[in-house]
Amino acid sequence: MRKKIRTATEKAASRRKARRGRAILARKARAIETIASGSACDAAANLALRQGIYAGKIYRITSSVAAKQLVAAVVALLAEEFGPAPLEAFRRLQFTLPGQELFERMGKVRKTLFARPELQALVFAVLAEQGFTAEANAVDPARMRAVTSGGHLNPLAAPAYTAHRDTWYSNPQAQINWWIPMHDVGVGETFSFFPALFDVRVANDSADFDYDRWAAEVGFQNTSGLKAVYPSASGFDEDSALPFACQAGDIMLFAASHLHQTAKNASGATRFSTDFRTVNLDDHNKGLGAPNVDNLCTGSCLADYLGS
Ligand SMILES: [Fe+2]
Repeated sequence: MRKKIRTATEKAASRRKARRGRAILARKARAIETIASGSACDAAANLALRQGIYAGKIYRITSSVAAKQLVAAVVALLAEEFGPAPLEAFRRLQFTLPGQELFERMGKVRKTLFARPELQALVFAVLAEQGFTAEANAVDPARMRAVTSGGHLNPLAAPAYTAHRDTWYSNPQAQINWWIPMHDVGVGETFSFFPALFDVRVANDSADFDYDRWAAEVGFQNTSGLKAVYPSASGFDEDSALPFACQAGDIMLFAASHLHQTAKNASGATRFSTDFRTVNLDDHNKGLGAPNVDNLCTGSCLADYLGS
Protein backbone atom coordinates (compact mmCIF):
# COMPACT_ATOMS: atom_id res chain seq x y z
CA MET A 1 0.00 0.00 0.00
CA ARG A 2 1.37 3.38 -0.93
CA LYS A 3 1.96 5.73 1.93
CA LYS A 4 0.25 9.11 1.44
CA ILE A 5 2.84 11.85 1.12
CA ARG A 6 1.78 14.91 3.08
CA THR A 7 2.51 18.32 1.66
CA ALA A 8 4.27 20.98 3.70
CA THR A 9 0.92 22.82 4.04
CA GLU A 10 -0.77 19.71 5.43
CA LYS A 11 2.07 19.14 7.88
CA ALA A 12 1.88 22.74 9.07
CA ALA A 13 -1.90 22.47 9.51
CA SER A 14 -1.47 19.26 11.47
CA ARG A 15 1.15 20.88 13.71
CA ARG A 16 -1.16 23.87 14.28
CA LYS A 17 -4.04 21.53 15.21
CA ALA A 18 -1.81 19.60 17.64
CA ARG A 19 -0.55 22.87 19.18
CA ARG A 20 -4.13 24.09 19.57
CA GLY A 21 -5.16 20.78 21.16
CA ARG A 22 -2.28 21.05 23.65
CA ALA A 23 -3.20 24.67 24.43
CA ILE A 24 -6.83 23.71 25.10
CA LEU A 25 -5.74 20.85 27.37
CA ALA A 26 -3.36 23.13 29.27
CA ARG A 27 -6.05 25.79 29.70
CA LYS A 28 -8.53 23.16 30.92
CA ALA A 29 -5.99 21.87 33.44
CA ARG A 30 -5.45 25.39 34.80
CA ALA A 31 -9.12 26.38 34.72
CA ILE A 32 -10.49 24.80 37.90
CA GLU A 33 -8.69 25.25 41.20
CA THR A 34 -9.85 23.54 44.37
CA ILE A 35 -9.59 25.59 47.57
CA ALA A 36 -10.83 25.02 51.10
CA SER A 37 -13.72 27.08 52.45
CA GLY A 38 -12.59 30.21 54.22
CA SER A 39 -9.19 30.38 52.55
CA ALA A 40 -9.97 33.71 50.87
CA CYS A 41 -11.83 35.44 53.68
CA ASP A 42 -9.67 38.49 54.37
CA ALA A 43 -10.06 41.55 52.14
CA ALA A 44 -6.79 41.10 50.23
CA ALA A 45 -7.40 37.41 49.57
CA ASN A 46 -11.00 38.12 48.55
CA LEU A 47 -9.81 40.77 46.09
CA ALA A 48 -7.32 38.28 44.61
CA LEU A 49 -10.09 35.68 44.36
CA ARG A 50 -12.36 38.12 42.49
CA GLN A 51 -9.54 39.16 40.19
CA GLY A 52 -8.84 35.50 39.41
CA ILE A 53 -12.50 34.94 38.62
CA TYR A 54 -12.63 38.00 36.34
CA ALA A 55 -9.60 36.55 34.53
CA GLY A 56 -11.45 33.27 33.92
CA LYS A 57 -10.41 31.17 36.90
CA ILE A 58 -13.00 28.71 38.21
CA TYR A 59 -12.88 27.78 41.88
CA ARG A 60 -14.23 24.69 43.55
CA ILE A 61 -14.63 25.41 47.25
CA THR A 62 -14.80 22.40 49.52
CA SER A 63 -15.79 21.88 53.15
CA SER A 64 -18.16 24.82 53.45
CA VAL A 65 -20.30 24.37 56.56
CA ALA A 66 -22.74 27.10 55.47
CA ALA A 67 -23.21 25.60 51.98
CA LYS A 68 -24.09 22.27 53.54
CA GLN A 69 -26.61 24.06 55.81
CA LEU A 70 -28.15 25.75 52.77
CA VAL A 71 -28.44 22.41 50.98
CA ALA A 72 -30.08 20.85 54.06
CA ALA A 73 -32.58 23.73 54.20
CA VAL A 74 -33.54 23.26 50.55
CA VAL A 75 -33.93 19.51 51.07
CA ALA A 76 -36.23 20.37 54.02
CA LEU A 77 -38.32 22.52 51.66
CA LEU A 78 -38.69 19.55 49.32
CA ALA A 79 -39.82 17.49 52.31
CA GLU A 80 -42.40 20.17 53.17
CA GLU A 81 -43.89 19.82 49.71
CA PHE A 82 -43.51 16.11 49.00
CA GLY A 83 -43.41 14.62 52.51
CA PRO A 84 -40.46 13.51 54.62
CA ALA A 85 -37.98 11.46 52.61
CA PRO A 86 -34.27 11.43 51.83
CA LEU A 87 -33.09 13.49 48.87
CA GLU A 88 -32.50 10.29 46.91
CA ALA A 89 -36.28 9.70 46.96
CA PHE A 90 -36.96 13.22 45.62
CA ARG A 91 -34.47 12.50 42.84
CA ARG A 92 -36.80 9.75 41.65
CA LEU A 93 -40.13 11.58 41.85
CA GLN A 94 -39.94 12.09 38.10
CA PHE A 95 -40.79 8.40 37.70
CA THR A 96 -43.89 8.43 39.91
CA LEU A 97 -45.50 11.85 39.47
CA PRO A 98 -47.05 13.15 36.23
CA GLY A 99 -44.68 15.61 34.53
CA GLN A 100 -46.94 18.65 34.82
CA GLU A 101 -47.64 18.03 38.52
CA LEU A 102 -43.93 17.62 39.25
CA PHE A 103 -43.14 20.82 37.35
CA GLU A 104 -45.78 22.82 39.25
CA ARG A 105 -44.82 21.49 42.70
CA MET A 106 -41.11 22.03 42.08
CA GLY A 107 -42.04 25.56 41.02
CA LYS A 108 -43.79 25.99 44.38
CA VAL A 109 -40.63 24.89 46.23
CA ARG A 110 -38.55 27.29 44.14
CA LYS A 111 -40.88 30.19 44.94
CA THR A 112 -40.82 29.37 48.66
CA LEU A 113 -37.02 29.32 48.69
CA PHE A 114 -36.90 32.59 46.81
CA ALA A 115 -39.35 34.30 49.19
CA ARG A 116 -38.26 33.14 52.67
CA PRO A 117 -35.83 35.57 54.32
CA GLU A 118 -34.55 32.96 56.81
CA LEU A 119 -33.46 30.75 53.91
CA GLN A 120 -31.85 33.61 52.04
CA ALA A 121 -29.99 34.43 55.28
CA LEU A 122 -28.16 31.14 54.77
CA VAL A 123 -26.87 32.54 51.47
CA PHE A 124 -25.26 35.40 53.37
CA ALA A 125 -23.65 32.86 55.72
CA VAL A 126 -22.10 31.14 52.68
CA LEU A 127 -20.86 34.51 51.43
CA ALA A 128 -19.44 35.47 54.82
CA GLU A 129 -17.43 32.25 54.97
CA GLN A 130 -15.66 33.30 51.77
CA GLY A 131 -15.15 36.95 52.75
CA PHE A 132 -17.96 38.39 50.60
CA THR A 133 -19.70 40.98 52.78
CA ALA A 134 -23.35 42.00 52.51
CA GLU A 135 -22.26 45.65 52.40
CA ALA A 136 -19.95 45.22 49.41
CA ASN A 137 -22.08 42.89 47.32
CA ALA A 138 -25.46 42.88 45.60
CA VAL A 139 -26.97 39.42 45.84
CA ASP A 140 -29.45 37.63 43.63
CA PRO A 141 -31.37 35.26 45.96
CA ALA A 142 -30.84 31.51 45.89
CA ARG A 143 -32.76 29.40 43.42
CA MET A 144 -33.18 25.65 43.31
CA ARG A 145 -32.71 23.90 39.97
CA ALA A 146 -33.92 20.43 39.06
CA VAL A 147 -32.68 18.81 35.86
CA THR A 148 -34.61 15.63 35.23
CA SER A 149 -32.95 12.58 33.77
CA GLY A 150 -33.85 12.61 30.08
CA GLY A 151 -35.22 16.16 30.37
CA HIS A 152 -33.19 17.16 27.31
CA LEU A 153 -35.38 14.89 25.18
CA ASN A 154 -38.31 17.31 25.63
CA PRO A 155 -38.11 19.76 22.70
CA LEU A 156 -39.74 22.49 24.84
CA ALA A 157 -36.76 22.35 27.21
CA ALA A 158 -34.18 22.85 24.45
CA PRO A 159 -33.26 26.44 25.46
CA ALA A 160 -32.13 25.19 28.88
CA TYR A 161 -29.42 23.06 27.26
CA THR A 162 -27.80 25.57 24.93
CA ALA A 163 -24.35 27.03 25.60
CA HIS A 164 -24.51 30.62 26.83
CA ARG A 165 -22.90 33.28 28.97
CA ASP A 166 -25.19 34.56 31.76
CA THR A 167 -24.03 38.06 30.84
CA TRP A 168 -26.00 37.68 27.57
CA TYR A 169 -29.05 37.80 29.90
CA SER A 170 -28.19 41.29 31.18
CA ASN A 171 -26.20 39.97 34.15
CA PRO A 172 -23.31 42.38 34.96
CA GLN A 173 -19.78 41.66 33.73
CA ALA A 174 -18.65 41.75 37.38
CA GLN A 175 -21.14 39.06 38.38
CA ILE A 176 -19.89 35.95 40.14
CA ASN A 177 -21.99 32.77 40.04
CA TRP A 178 -22.20 30.42 43.01
CA TRP A 179 -23.37 26.90 42.08
CA ILE A 180 -23.87 24.24 44.74
CA PRO A 181 -24.82 20.63 43.98
CA MET A 182 -27.25 19.18 46.53
CA HIS A 183 -25.83 15.66 46.13
CA ASP A 184 -22.65 14.19 44.66
CA VAL A 185 -22.68 14.72 40.90
CA GLY A 186 -20.78 13.01 38.11
CA VAL A 187 -19.57 14.76 34.96
CA GLY A 188 -22.76 13.83 33.08
CA GLU A 189 -24.96 15.58 35.65
CA THR A 190 -23.42 19.02 35.95
CA PHE A 191 -22.52 21.40 33.15
CA SER A 192 -19.50 22.15 31.01
CA PHE A 193 -17.31 25.21 30.88
CA PHE A 194 -15.47 26.28 27.75
CA PRO A 195 -12.36 27.89 29.31
CA ALA A 196 -10.64 28.41 25.95
CA LEU A 197 -13.58 30.61 24.87
CA PHE A 198 -13.73 32.74 28.01
CA ASP A 199 -12.24 35.76 26.26
CA VAL A 200 -12.87 34.71 22.66
CA ARG A 201 -15.78 36.07 20.66
CA VAL A 202 -18.50 33.46 20.08
CA ALA A 203 -21.40 33.90 17.64
CA ASN A 204 -24.63 34.45 19.60
CA ASP A 205 -28.01 36.18 19.53
CA SER A 206 -27.66 38.26 22.72
CA ALA A 207 -28.53 41.36 20.67
CA ASP A 208 -32.16 40.13 20.77
CA PHE A 209 -32.27 40.19 24.59
CA ASP A 210 -33.45 43.24 26.51
CA TYR A 211 -33.85 42.84 30.26
CA ASP A 212 -36.77 45.23 30.77
CA ARG A 213 -38.76 43.65 27.95
CA TRP A 214 -37.98 40.16 29.27
CA ALA A 215 -38.96 41.07 32.86
CA ALA A 216 -42.23 42.66 31.72
CA GLU A 217 -43.29 39.97 29.27
CA VAL A 218 -41.83 36.70 30.55
CA GLY A 219 -40.18 36.77 33.99
CA PHE A 220 -38.19 34.23 35.92
CA GLN A 221 -40.89 31.58 36.26
CA ASN A 222 -42.08 31.85 32.62
CA THR A 223 -45.57 30.41 32.88
CA SER A 224 -46.98 33.09 30.59
CA GLY A 225 -46.85 30.94 27.51
CA LEU A 226 -45.01 33.76 25.77
CA LYS A 227 -42.01 32.76 23.71
CA ALA A 228 -38.96 34.12 25.47
CA VAL A 229 -35.62 35.02 23.95
CA TYR A 230 -32.89 32.73 25.29
CA PRO A 231 -29.53 33.94 23.97
CA SER A 232 -27.38 31.01 22.89
CA ALA A 233 -24.01 30.36 21.27
CA SER A 234 -23.69 28.93 17.79
CA GLY A 235 -20.84 27.62 15.69
CA PHE A 236 -18.35 27.32 18.56
CA ASP A 237 -15.75 24.66 19.32
CA GLU A 238 -17.73 22.12 21.35
CA ASP A 239 -14.64 19.92 21.71
CA SER A 240 -13.16 22.43 24.13
CA ALA A 241 -15.86 21.61 26.73
CA LEU A 242 -14.65 21.05 30.28
CA PRO A 243 -17.16 18.94 32.24
CA PHE A 244 -16.59 18.42 35.96
CA ALA A 245 -17.75 16.30 38.87
CA CYS A 246 -18.10 17.47 42.46
CA GLN A 247 -19.59 16.61 45.80
CA ALA A 248 -22.69 17.65 47.73
CA GLY A 249 -22.20 21.10 49.24
CA ASP A 250 -19.13 21.98 47.18
CA ILE A 251 -19.31 25.49 45.71
CA MET A 252 -18.39 26.18 42.09
CA LEU A 253 -17.46 29.84 41.84
CA PHE A 254 -17.05 31.41 38.40
CA ALA A 255 -17.56 34.50 36.29
CA ALA A 256 -21.09 34.86 34.91
CA SER A 257 -19.54 35.49 31.54
CA HIS A 258 -17.96 32.02 31.34
CA LEU A 259 -19.51 30.16 28.42
CA HIS A 260 -21.25 27.12 29.93
CA GLN A 261 -23.75 24.46 28.95
CA THR A 262 -25.96 22.20 31.07
CA ALA A 263 -25.23 18.49 30.66
CA LYS A 264 -27.86 16.21 29.20
CA ASN A 265 -28.63 14.26 32.34
CA ALA A 266 -29.00 10.56 31.58
CA SER A 267 -28.07 9.35 35.07
CA GLY A 268 -31.49 7.89 35.84
CA ALA A 269 -32.23 10.46 38.56
CA THR A 270 -33.06 14.16 38.78
CA ARG A 271 -30.08 16.42 39.44
CA PHE A 272 -30.69 19.04 42.15
CA SER A 273 -28.59 22.13 42.67
CA THR A 274 -28.90 25.52 44.33
CA ASP A 275 -27.31 28.67 42.99
CA PHE A 276 -27.14 32.39 43.54
CA ARG A 277 -25.11 35.29 42.21
CA THR A 278 -23.17 38.22 43.61
CA VAL A 279 -21.90 41.48 42.19
CA ASN A 280 -19.22 43.43 44.03
CA LEU A 281 -20.64 46.94 43.70
CA ASP A 282 -17.30 48.71 43.91
CA ASP A 283 -15.89 46.54 41.12
CA HIS A 284 -19.05 47.06 39.07
CA ASN A 285 -18.95 50.84 39.53
CA LYS A 286 -15.30 50.91 38.50
CA GLY A 287 -16.07 48.93 35.34
CA LEU A 288 -14.09 45.92 36.60
CA GLY A 289 -15.17 42.38 35.86
CA ALA A 290 -14.75 39.74 33.20
CA PRO A 291 -13.98 41.01 29.70
CA ASN A 292 -16.93 41.56 27.40
CA VAL A 293 -15.98 40.05 24.08
CA ASP A 294 -19.35 39.40 22.45
CA ASN A 295 -22.25 40.53 24.63
CA LEU A 296 -24.79 42.71 22.77
CA CYS A 297 -27.83 42.51 25.09
CA THR A 298 -29.40 45.64 26.57
CA GLY A 299 -30.55 46.51 30.08
CA SER A 300 -29.35 45.24 33.45
CA CYS A 301 -30.84 42.95 36.08
CA LEU A 302 -28.71 44.47 38.85
CA ALA A 303 -31.48 46.70 40.21
CA ASP A 304 -33.43 43.54 41.12
CA TYR A 305 -30.62 42.17 43.31
CA LEU A 306 -30.68 42.55 47.10
CA GLY A 307 -28.46 45.37 48.28
CA SER A 308 -27.96 46.94 44.86
FE1 LIG B 1 -26.30 29.91 32.91
